[in-house]
Amino acid sequence: MIWYRIAAFCALLGVSWCTEDWTFPPGFKFGAATSSFQVEGAWNVSDKSQSIWDKFVHDKPDVIADCSNADVSADSYHLWETDVEKAAELGLNFYRFSISWPRLLPSGFANYTSEDGKRYYNNLIDGLLAKGIEPMVTLFHLDLPQTLQDLGGFTNPLIADWFADYARVAYSLFGDRVKIWLTINEPIMICDLAYNTAIMAPGVLSPDHGTYLCNKYILLAHAKAYRVYENEFKAMYQGEVSIANQLMWYEPEREADADLAELGRQYNTGRYSHPIYSKEGGWPPAIEKLIEENSLKKGFLTSNLPAFTQEEIELIRGTYDFYALNYYMSFTVRTASEGEDVGSYPLYGIPDLNAVFGHREEWTATNLTGFYLNPEGARRQMAWLKKNYDDMKILITENGYPNLGGLDDHDRIAFYQALFKQLILAIKEDGINLTHYTAWALMDNFEWTNGYSVKYGLYQVDFADPLRTRTARASARYYANVIKTLTISAES
Ligand code: BGC
Repeated sequence: MIWYRIAAFCALLGVSWCTEDWTFPPGFKFGAATSSFQVEGAWNVSDKSQSIWDKFVHDKPDVIADCSNADVSADSYHLWETDVEKAAELGLNFYRFSISWPRLLPSGFANYTSEDGKRYYNNLIDGLLAKGIEPMVTLFHLDLPQTLQDLGGFTNPLIADWFADYARVAYSLFGDRVKIWLTINEPIMICDLAYNTAIMAPGVLSPDHGTYLCNKYILLAHAKAYRVYENEFKAMYQGEVSIANQLMWYEPEREADADLAELGRQYNTGRYSHPIYSKEGGWPPAIEKLIEENSLKKGFLTSNLPAFTQEEIELIRGTYDFYALNYYMSFTVRTASEGEDVGSYPLYGIPDLNAVFGHREEWTATNLTGFYLNPEGARRQMAWLKKNYDDMKILITENGYPNLGGLDDHDRIAFYQALFKQLILAIKEDGINLTHYTAWALMDNFEWTNGYSVKYGLYQVDFADPLRTRTARASARYYANVIKTLTISAES
């Protein structure tokens, strides 16, 4: 009776959340992700060449929190069958993994394809499909062949063609079975974090030029790879292609910071999305103007943000079949006070905006990684995308919760529950066309500069054990239940 009254009251108000119907729509897909460098190991087997991350961790072990490397990591190169079993145990609809460019094309160029690389990824794809798990494949997740870095990497305009050639090889080999492709994972890590701090491979510090050259050429690389699929493969294979952006949600610290926070969103999201998803294409106008003004103030003769030609604008515009969103963190934004050090972007502030980051107390679910987790930010970010670009299909291609490990990760489960509520509200209240959710990560792995000190896995990996045994955490059982029931509450 009481239940009936609540439901009637809710119907009257027209709000679905008060019925506490925390259910994902039928057909919603759940997956988990990893990336080649972070899990495969086998860094020098067969004819695989060195990636920029192999070189970086070998040359500069001190930059990694526990001085570790990824030479073996979770050993997925040898243990891929176990990974597939774990994915099946969870009931995943899809598994997102990346192809190691230097494993498939050891020279970095398309002149020669590794038989061993082909065999490895064919086995993985076929193994997943045999269990009814769809492969979602990222072409490039930070592990650039060192041969190409030696030629300037993403600051060399020719990278766009080299990447498109690599993409063509991958589509030809695997496109008959892979229907969801992500060209590049998180350009913001590759361009901004790497060139602004040098704490990520390739370890080159060039905040004035490297960051923005990379920003432009990585977009062109994505666009050319998208066009290769569109022109040569789409009719045959009917797959979909996009780029995975990590978006940090910015909120004003106080009301007076509202315009600054909005500019921050254009700086973070806009620089990697406006050229692709907006109707007019090209850089976000406010950011283009700002970087030009700042460059001239610093004494440069032209803007450090390289201009697009009209042809490039058109090449890039519209190169998406969906929005691939990696969401981890939120920041508050305020103007720096007189003489205050803004710190580098994207972790501390935005020097080009003289903006400093902070966080709200309620976001400090974990500050292990400097990430402030804010489940509501995911919903707000998706509403922002819908308002600023197209009402497009959105796939969350990464999201996760870091902790120090242990099998009873009820902190992670609580985070997932809070996050899933926001996703359901986004779908049901805001009309967001969200179709996929991807948990980072299927298992513990090499977490870049955090090494193995931080854990994200649904499965724990015992890195001291030569067999790299994988053990389900409580969150794995919880996630399996969500996938099975499409509801978020039951913790089994
Ligand atoms: C990256 C992953 C990384 C995760 C957690 C994401 O930004 O795509 O490679 O491991 O964050 O740090």
